[in-house]
Amino acid sequence: MAQQFEDKFHRKFYYLRLSVTDVCNFKCSYCLPEGYRPVGGEKSTFLTLPEIKRVVTAFADCGTTKVRITGGEPSLRRDFNDIIHAVSNTAGISKVATTTNGYRMAKQVANWRQAGLTHINVSVDSLNPRMFHQITGENKFEQVMAGIDKAFEVGYEQVKVNVVLMNNFNLREIPAFLEWIKTRPIQLRFIELMQTGEMDQFFEKNHVSGVNIRTQILANGWMPKVRQSNDGPAQVFTHPDYQGEIGLIMPYEKGFCETCNRLRVSAKGKLHLCLFGEQGIELRDLLQVDKQKPELISRIQAQLMSKSVSHYLHDGNSGATPHLASIGG
Ligand code: 5AD
Ligand code: SF4
Repeated sequence: MAQQFEDKFHRKFYYLRLSVTDVCNFKCSYCLPEGYRPVGGEKSTFLTLPEIKRVVTAFADCGTTKVRITGGEPSLRRDFNDIIHAVSNTAGISKVATTTNGYRMAKQVANWRQAGLTHINVSVDSLNPRMFHQITGENKFEQVMAGIDKAFEVGYEQVKVNVVLMNNFNLREIPAFLEWIKTRPIQLRFIELMQTGEMDQFFEKNHVSGVNIRTQILANGWMPKVRQSNDGPAQVFTHPDYQGEIGLIMPYEKGFCETCNRLRVSAKGKLHLCLFGEQGIELRDLLQVDKQKPELISRIQAQLMSKSVSHYLHDGNSGATPHLASIGG
């Protein structure tokens, strides 16, 4: 193995979040309320399959064991199965995850599994079809639910479900969500709304702190679970009466960045050291032929030295990130 990716603060990076497209067909109110619009009208030039293979191989050589394929909506890529296959066949990568809005899942999840996808996160912000429509701009609740059922059918033992909690939309549904996971091996991930560049009042009106939710669930018998080195940012809780688990993602909590173990590569091949606050570092010129790998690794290693200790979100920094579809939530 080449030298493990590590920063000045001795954080080691086991987890790569790789965006493969900025395009999305949903219009989530906290992400792309107007729907996806191509930036600058340019023809899309998202990473090609060979470029994806090269970047993943370099990360794997430096200790990355888990890759999440994100977007936009990653399953909109016609070569999505090939991408999964390429990532899962990279030496050193043991977990291949994706985050999807679920609209293609019922039809495709069997193929994804066959191609080597080991973990799935799907966004379901409401269990009420009308509220789901209101939040995502798409009347596809039943389709997404069928996708989750299908995932279990084809052999996934657990599915993670992302729920961005919002005051004026789904906050009242927490009891319904908990009831839902009593008998299902679903890890519900309550995500605190993050402020991005294109939001103004939406954040003020809808942000709910995860701390209150944690207090509530701890009082109701949920118990914290131990973390693994390539786990994501969620604090996970289990309960003897529930088959499902709860994950809390609280980016505004003090210390959130201390356990940062992940790096991001955008769909156009830029390295992002953090979700917030920077323009990204060009990698694409070093993804053109296999023999550039040592140079690619050196560039990444040099840049890691400038990774900041925190995202400074508390100071209202939403940095250069207009919405999360642009860099892969
Ligand atoms: N705040 C919190 N989570 C967000 N996501 C996208 N935008 C935001 C935001 N502003 C996350 C959601 C969604 C995933 C694709 O990205 O969890 O499920
Ligand atoms: Fe699309 Fe995901 Fe953004 Fe919703 S959150 S608009 S599904 S990229």
